[in-house]
Amino acid sequence: MTPKLPTSQDALLFTPGPLTTSLAVKQAMLHDAGSWHWEFNNLVAEVRQAILALGGVSRESGWEAILMQGSGTFGVEAVFQSAIPPEGKVAVLSNGAYGERILLMLQHARIAHTILRTAEDTPPTPEALDALLASDPAITHVAAVHCETTTGVLNPIETLGPVAKRHGKVYIVDAMSSFGGYPIDLEAAGIDFIISSANKCVESVPGFSFVLCRRAVLLATEGWARSLSLNLLDQLKGFEKNGQFRYTPPTHSILAFAQALKELEQEGGIAARAARYQANNAALIAAMQGIGLKSYLPPAVQSHIITSFVYPKDSAFVWTEFYRLVAEKGFLLYPGKISQADTFRIGNIGRLFEKDMRAVVNAIVETLRGHARRGQRHRRDLARNGCESGLGRHHSMAAGRTTQRNG
Ligand SMILES: Cc1ncc(COP(=O)(O)O)c(C=O)c1O
Repeated sequence: MTPKLPTSQDALLFTPGPLTTSLAVKQAMLHDAGSWHWEFNNLVAEVRQAILALGGVSRESGWEAILMQGSGTFGVEAVFQSAIPPEGKVAVLSNGAYGERILLMLQHARIAHTILRTAEDTPPTPEALDALLASDPAITHVAAVHCETTTGVLNPIETLGPVAKRHGKVYIVDAMSSFGGYPIDLEAAGIDFIISSANKCVESVPGFSFVLCRRAVLLATEGWARSLSLNLLDQLKGFEKNGQFRYTPPTHSILAFAQALKELEQEGGIAARAARYQANNAALIAAMQGIGLKSYLPPAVQSHIITSFVYPKDSAFVWTEFYRLVAEKGFLLYPGKISQADTFRIGNIGRLFEKDMRAVVNAIVETLRGHARRGQRHRRDLARNGCESGLGRHHSMAAGRTTQRNG
């Protein structure tokens, strides 16, 4: 038997983060950085400055970039733990798991809230937000998710923001999976707080999240924080006092992020990265359609970050088995998260190119063919033993679809 040796390269991650990173980003972590040392703290200052530039804003125009240890959820929760006054009330626009997570954060913090929920394939409209804000003057803040990674739906944050502003509300956007992969005009969208993390479209490794916010709005939150470690204003004060994180910094993750920022610039900035992701996404959806696998969302609301695909019409399709077989070929897919349909997801952010999208679809084709062949063998065995199987019809449907269009 051939011994199972370690592979020469990592599997490609078709996931919304952690995602596939460049070799140089990984190599940047092969150093020890002292959290008190001027060299590391200068790098933290450079990273904060670069995040402002990525957002198209500056300190001079009244913005701040604050890094927060932990995954993206910690950054989002830091905003809600810190920026809502005791008598505040948040209107949450939710069409997926991350909108629902904001709701959970508010429940945990005992912050008053209301929810404008739409179906998972349906973005909220500015008209519905306008009506909600007109009907409930107690609302002080509006929270939206840009790319709702649950499905990949892109919510219209640029048209919702001006409605929130017209009503005098603070506007908070979770742009976890989209910041750096879509150009966002923070001023025009009326955004006060926007959150993302290191391991998404900047293409670095996990370890911290970051918040871009209007300085004046953050300074006004003095005394409101409900958490010690997730206190956003205190985190800013810490950076301003001595350039340091208040508590142990994610040193290696910062080293990697600095390299990832250089590579983002090298690629041509957010516009160029968005163009690559768009090309990846178009190649993926076209190839999947070619083998009869449909994306869940209508094209008009599909982001170029991640796509949900409906399970093949094969009653014998088992996601975990399919996942394992595709993973053995070197491609890691992502499970579905939609409550109303059986789906799996394929992300196309990270260091991936159109050829990688075609390669993962080829691996899917091979896997489904193998599945169909096993089905045929199974049917033959049953026939030989004089049995009938209801499964057979479905196996041959999958086989017909995959072989016919690619054979
Ligand atoms: C839109 C959105 N918000 C929040 C999160 C939570 O981030 P994390 O899993 O890093 O805590 C994610 C994760 O993918 C996300 O896509």
